[in-house]
Amino acid sequence: MYRTNTCGELRLADAGKEVTLAGWVQRVRKMGGMTFIDLRDRYGLTQIVFNNADNAELCEQANHLGREYVIQVTGKVAERSSKNPSLPTGDIEIMAGELKVLNPSEVPPFTIEDDTDGGDDLRMKFRYLDLRRPSVRKNLELRHKMTMEVRRYLDSKGFLEIETPMLVGSTPEGARDFVVPSRMNPGQFYALPQSPQTLKQLLMVSGMDRYFQIVKCFRDEDLRADRQPEFTQIDCEMSYVNQEDVIDLFEGMACHLFKELRGVELKRPFIRMPWAEAMKLYGSDKPDLRFGMEFVELMDILKGHGFSVFDNAEYIGGICAKGAASYTRKQLDQLTDFVKRPQIGAKGMVYARVEADGIVKSSVDKFYSQDVLQKMKEAFGAQPGDLILILSGDDAMKTRKQLCELRLEMGNRLGLRDKNKFACLWVVDFPMFEWSDEEQRLMAMHHPFTHPKAEDIPLLDTKPEEVRADAYDMVVNGVEVGGGSIRIHDSELQAKMFEILGFTPEKAQEQFGFLMNAFKYGAPPHGGLAYGLDRWVSLFAGLDSIRDCMAFPKNNSGRDVMLEAPAPLDQRQLDELQLAIDLKEK
Ligand code: AMO
Repeated sequence: MYRTNTCGELRLADAGKEVTLAGWVQRVRKMGGMTFIDLRDRYGLTQIVFNNADNAELCEQANHLGREYVIQVTGKVAERSSKNPSLPTGDIEIMAGELKVLNPSEVPPFTIEDDTDGGDDLRMKFRYLDLRRPSVRKNLELRHKMTMEVRRYLDSKGFLEIETPMLVGSTPEGARDFVVPSRMNPGQFYALPQSPQTLKQLLMVSGMDRYFQIVKCFRDEDLRADRQPEFTQIDCEMSYVNQEDVIDLFEGMACHLFKELRGVELKRPFIRMPWAEAMKLYGSDKPDLRFGMEFVELMDILKGHGFSVFDNAEYIGGICAKGAASYTRKQLDQLTDFVKRPQIGAKGMVYARVEADGIVKSSVDKFYSQDVLQKMKEAFGAQPGDLILILSGDDAMKTRKQLCELRLEMGNRLGLRDKNKFACLWVVDFPMFEWSDEEQRLMAMHHPFTHPKAEDIPLLDTKPEEVRADAYDMVVNGVEVGGGSIRIHDSELQAKMFEILGFTPEKAQEQFGFLMNAFKYGAPPHGGLAYGLDRWVSLFAGLDSIRDCMAFPKNNSGRDVMLEAPAPLDQRQLDELQLAIDLKEK
């Protein structure tokens, strides 16, 4: 037997027991005639003591142990004289009687403790060592618990877990595909699924009624903190449902996860916010509602007073930061620099302080009378001590997005984005289409299978850009944690949708014929949703990036630095695939 107990298990009640532990040496400390070892495994840390006076040879052996050696120790559990209250096993130690080195270790490239000296790249290169650190391991444990709870919840609601293939066909909508060449079909490629969207719809045509899958999805898009090229969805689909049915069931699942994994009881129903309102008040389709600071539009109040920046603007809007009038010139300059960063792209920022006597002092005082400034103060409901920050621009949507960044930055600075507070909502009534400058055509905002709102169907022919969709996203703390829609189940409406999206009937048939044909054989009304598992776990773990809750994530250039992937193929493999590489200069 390698061990009788784990390194996280023993307590004072075990004192006197003879035990055997196995694990990794985290630290060796020599103090007088004693040697102390912190022994670590997945479950915790236990202190092992070697006493020179009892067994000099054993103690000497212990002195030669290096960090991350795998050892086995047998000894007696004893009460510690100096206890460590920060450790669950901190009341006891093991008085070692036997020691066996199961495997020595080279000196690890960084300290394997929560407070590590390893930089990001190094830790990713040696991710298997990084995963020994308790803080990283805990994220994977949480991920496991979450998938268990998801399965439990969905099973209790009658869902079937069904696997769909990973080698599928490439589709033109959405992000770019990762493609896989086929040896048996030279010159042809599979694509890895961006999501099992069409397959789960086909499962509804098959009568599976309630499907789910915890499934890997692949998207070749630029990476961000909440985006990986390979990520996991909790993908679901249901038959004979409307939007309310889907929202209700998955809101229930969100509440179940919050309760089981975070001990948080959420108030239901969650807010339902139309997309247009989210954009108007927060400049985002994923507003962080942990704090207010809604936008106030100021075109009527501030335009036409001789300040050319505002006079020429298509949008003027601002936010009111409670109690921030004490911001110094330096802090305000920092904020101006923040909004002028190329990623945000504002040209400048105007500010106004509400002084203790209610007078408003602004950075553009010479253009505005106190009367006008007071009107502005009232529009915000601002009080003495508040700070008003204003942006303007010639593109309303762009300026709102800039103001959104400023709002989030102020939320951070004022400590309003507490990671232990959760604000959940559904954003609903998304536009069906959005215009793509790049493609010079309308694109589906969710995907081309989304059902338009029944009352907007007549607009499809006349004003497609005004058509709203039966689509919904769940947003928690400014993160889109899931999204879905009611689907089109009628082959004619689906064909019309492809037409609006610029597909010729032949192209639509070539790409999506399998789906449109299936719809001719009794497709039930259906809808569904996919939650982003990685985003849920990182939300619950309070992480800044979803990478930290993945065992083996990719870096920002989409590389796995440990596996050194992607990499060129051998000539032999290329020959088998009948492929030749001809890299074009970019
Ligand atoms: P969507 O594209 O909105 O919908 O994806 C659903 C959820 O998956 C998560 N997600 C990601 N997580 C990490 N990295 C990424 N690159 C990434 N992309 C998306 C998000 C998102 O809300 N088939 C539809 C769902 C449906 O309509 O049922 C779909 O894939 O949390």
